[in-house]
Amino acid sequence: MTQASDLDPEVRERLVRRFRRFADEEAPAVGSPLYARLAAGASRHPDVLAVLAEAPERQQRPTTLFAAVHDVLLRDPQHPLAAHYPRLAGDREPSSDPVDDLRDLVREHHDELRRLAGTRGTQTNEVLRAVGVAPAIAQVAAEVGRPVALLEVGPSAGLLLRLDRYGYRYVDLDGRAVGESPAGGLRLTSEVRHGDVPPVHLLPPPIVDRVGLDLAPLDVTDEDDVRWLRACVWPEHTGRAERLDAALAAARDDPPPLVTGDMVDDLAATADRLDPDAHLVVLHGVSLMYLPAGRRERFRQRLAELARRRPLDVVAFEDHRIEPYGELFPADLAGDDAMHGIVARSSYRAGEVTHTLLGRAHMHGRWVGWA
Ligand SMILES: C[S@@+](CC[C@H](N)C(=O)[O-])C[C@H]1O[C@@H](n2cnc3c(N)ncnc32)[C@H](O)[C@@H]1O
Repeated sequence: MTQASDLDPEVRERLVRRFRRFADEEAPAVGSPLYARLAAGASRHPDVLAVLAEAPERQQRPTTLFAAVHDVLLRDPQHPLAAHYPRLAGDREPSSDPVDDLRDLVREHHDELRRLAGTRGTQTNEVLRAVGVAPAIAQVAAEVGRPVALLEVGPSAGLLLRLDRYGYRYVDLDGRAVGESPAGGLRLTSEVRHGDVPPVHLLPPPIVDRVGLDLAPLDVTDEDDVRWLRACVWPEHTGRAERLDAALAAARDDPPPLVTGDMVDDLAATADRLDPDAHLVVLHGVSLMYLPAGRRERFRQRLAELARRRPLDVVAFEDHRIEPYGELFPADLAGDDAMHGIVARSSYRAGEVTHTLLGRAHMHGRWVGWA
């Protein structure tokens, strides 16, 4: 077991830097005072940082540690640290210093935390992104006049692949409905900002075939996978956690089809599994940023190669700064709002590709606006 005392000085320094930055910038931007506090505390305690010492470099991140900690707490909700988590606290009063509780938890569960940090990557599945993705796919289907075969790359547990089974409600800033689709099993609500109401009359999109391609797909019927998904949701994001639970419950009886593979290397073979008579839509939601820059270019080449065999559209829901969208739509960026995403469409036809900005959205789908 790696002890704090034999933490490599270089690794330790890198971890301290990452935890301080997370405490000062990332946790406040995404809205977790608890994680900001725990990260600041962890940066001062090598015994806590040591949990990550043997994880692959890309997983040596505060979010990995906190997901592992949350996973352990979901199994041991009586632990004093759990009293700081709104969904686990019950009527307990939290202690005055969560960092002390975190250090105790690390001492008690060191091996388990290290195992989780070393084997799992942080993987969320935000079903509310469907408020931007579903109308985009519906618009493609309406324009091509054919039903859709949907291939999601980086689907995690595949909850977005079921977007035609959800109901959609768009509200104005006062909470009044400005657009509603027929009720689905799960009703998703989003506030319309920065633009128009998405084309709700086209919802739900006609999807006749679907598949997800992920390096590490999560199985909605597997207890450990489901707990990990829940553990990756930040503690103050209680609405997200409730929505995730509802979407998982709905998916359990009809799990989305997922295959294990790489979105670059296995794109074409996965597309070949889908109904050839339907129009192919490739969806990526907050998964492109996991590809190194060179691989993103390669991904676009693979899309172009695939499009020579069958026309296709890409629907993207990504961070507004990510390549190529940052360069394609620079005039549409809204400052440096960390939670500002874009909904874009790239149509691949006969050797040509046309990129269109369809809308913008909060990265978790809390608000949306059509261009
Ligand atoms: C943040 S999750 C997004 C999940 C889902 N699209 C959503 O919007 O909720 C990113 C997913 O991309 C997957 N991923 C990362 N690199 C990948 C690759 N090269 N090929 C396939 N999937 C990948 C990860 O395993 C993870 O499940």
